[in-house]
Amino acid sequence: MLAYEEAGRGPAAVLLHAFPLSGEMWRPQIQALARHARLVLPDLPGFGRSPRQKTPSVPAMAQAVAELLDQLGIREPVFIGGLSMGGYAAFEFARQFPERVRGLGLFSTRAAADTEEAKVKRMKTSALIQEAGLESLIQAMIPNLLGITTRKTHPETEVWVREMILRNEAGGVTDALKAMAERRDSSPLLSSMRVPVMVAAGDEDLFIPWEESETMQRAIPGSVLTRLQGAGHLVNLESPEAFNEALGFFLKRLEV
Ligand code: MLT
Repeated sequence: MLAYEEAGRGPAAVLLHAFPLSGEMWRPQIQALARHARLVLPDLPGFGRSPRQKTPSVPAMAQAVAELLDQLGIREPVFIGGLSMGGYAAFEFARQFPERVRGLGLFSTRAAADTEEAKVKRMKTSALIQEAGLESLIQAMIPNLLGITTRKTHPETEVWVREMILRNEAGGVTDALKAMAERRDSSPLLSSMRVPVMVAAGDEDLFIPWEESETMQRAIPGSVLTRLQGAGHLVNLESPEAFNEALGFFLKRLEV
């Protein structure tokens, strides 16, 4: 079973973390959003305190989340939101368990699968981690994870993100690289979404350019788009007040 944190009461809202972090990254959301929902914050397989999977894949991540909900006795449809890798898993959850979804949050993520070039890059990153450990990944990733404004004005955020990454096991991180490289293209799902969808992205995201999120949002009927000014890829912890306000508003509307 996946390790998880829980807070609040009411309809369930599941938030899936980015690579290579853990459920801990949602800490800036707990107090504000527990007023609107029962937050379920899992560590995806191989991250945080969750065990690795025998055959890692994004579909297996989605299945592990469904099993967690079963174990928590959550049978009614949930809001499921994911940031970047968490978004890939949220897409997969919506594909496999459409009847369990009442709303979807797509934060700093993309529907498309990896290009051949991206797959090769992931295999290189995996080899580097096996050789030189997670510190090598941090050097390569931090400039893409955090926006320039955060890096300049909130150095403590960078320290926290580094610590969070280092609390993971290298094996779980390389499993996820393989899983992400093999993930399916979720673009065909976009136009057929029938639940409320919130897309959010930062205008300083170097990993997924803001324009790409805009294009994705336009392809999803009736979806809403939140632009987080001065935030990079990790929008929820770079711009927590604006993110919480937008997601809180969305969750409140989902209830009615
Ligand atoms: C993430 O933030 O989850 C990753 O950057 C996603 C990816 O590598 O595709």
